[in-house]
Amino acid sequence: MIQKLTLSYVKFLCARIVLAPLTRQRSYGNVPQPHAILYYSQRTTKGGLLIAEATVVSDTSRGYPHTPGIWTKEQVEAWKPIVDAVHAKGGIFFCQIWHVGRVSNSGFQPNGQAPISSTDKALTPQIQSNGYNVAEFTPPRRLRTEEIPQIVNDFRVAARNAMEAGFDGIEIHGAHGYLIDQFMKDQVNDRTDQYGGSLENRCRFALEIVEAVANEIGADRVGIRLSPFANYLESGDSNPEALGLYMAESLNKYGIAYCHMVEPRMKTAGEKFECPHSLVPMRKAFKGTFISAGGYDREDGIKAVAENRTDLVCYGRLFLANPDLPRRFELNKPLNKYNRETFYTPDPVVGYTDYPFLEEEEEDK
Ligand SMILES: Cc1cc2nc3c(=O)[nH]c(=O)nc-3n(C[C@H](O)[C@H](O)[C@H](O)COP(=O)(O)O)c2cc1C
Ligand SMILES: *[C@@H]1O[C@H](CO)[C@@H](O)[C@H](O)[C@H]1NC(C)=O
Repeated sequence: MIQKLTLSYVKFLCARIVLAPLTRQRSYGNVPQPHAILYYSQRTTKGGLLIAEATVVSDTSRGYPHTPGIWTKEQVEAWKPIVDAVHAKGGIFFCQIWHVGRVSNSGFQPNGQAPISSTDKALTPQIQSNGYNVAEFTPPRRLRTEEIPQIVNDFRVAARNAMEAGFDGIEIHGAHGYLIDQFMKDQVNDRTDQYGGSLENRCRFALEIVEAVANEIGADRVGIRLSPFANYLESGDSNPEALGLYMAESLNKYGIAYCHMVEPRMKTAGEKFECPHSLVPMRKAFKGTFISAGGYDREDGIKAVAENRTDLVCYGRLFLANPDLPRRFELNKPLNKYNRETFYTPDPVVGYTDYPFLEEEEEDK
């Protein structure tokens, strides 16, 4: 589906602009709220791909307040009008499905139990996480080998539920130090079973999820996000290049819709920063549609596509603050600045749906 999209829109960068998954913590009680209808609909361009904010797959998956879920009937029903609004404007909407693993505390867990992970190594307390001061991470409990199929199944069910809600597909959240990354990265995973040790073993969990989800809803409805180079939330790897390549190559077997990778450089748009690493080897290794994210501005995006370093370019903070980002890029107009202070505040309007569109701004002058 995304493959076709790319081919039919080659002329315009605007159709290659993807809305990044952005946690906004405005889904009270893990239920998506009606204010998300306006938020996503504002960011929809005909033919464009939107990736919904990370959405938890089960009651053990949570680590932040007010993130949406997709494991109950109520949550599925609540997503429906949001998805409908995106479709009404011709957008393509994928749901990012998420398990935080050890990035949690027992207050978010059923019966106050310990969060689960690939390991029982705790995160350093007081870490500044996701803009929120998650003061205390509860030391996790290492999943027993025989418990792993149940977690894979939670992702499968979430994907099925996303179809029920009307999404066009799902993106497996395999990035940024959350559960799947806790399996992949050798600085976290200290297992001695078939899910730990070698690269093949550490990637087994991720690939089992890809396979289960692809079998459930069709590979053309499945994407995955990976950040081999990031060490966010203490999830570094001693050989990120090898990890990224192994995943890119292994994913070819499943024929999924896309592989989405986060650039090794993390920079504020506009800043220049030389990085010795690159996603180009992974882009070349993966046979399907490739999406790049992280620190892109308009010029970088145009250049990356022109140089065939990616198929689609994903924008986070700039899209958060500019609901009409594709249009602004097309016309090369100035951008609104994002306000970090309201990224995760629960207000249904402020910092969420009140960033101005181009027209409003022009009229104001
Ligand atoms: C407010 C905020 C929330 C985010 N939430 C998520 C998320 O839910 N899932 C995810 O994979 N990445 C998340 N990210 C990372 C973004 O998707 C993106 O990769 C990052 O912001 C870098 O891209 P940018 O430079 O275009 O902003 C988040 C980033 C921000 C700023
Ligand atoms: C762009 O790169 C991809 C992946 O390496 C390759 O398959 C494709 O042929 C390239 N396209 C052009 C126009 O060079």
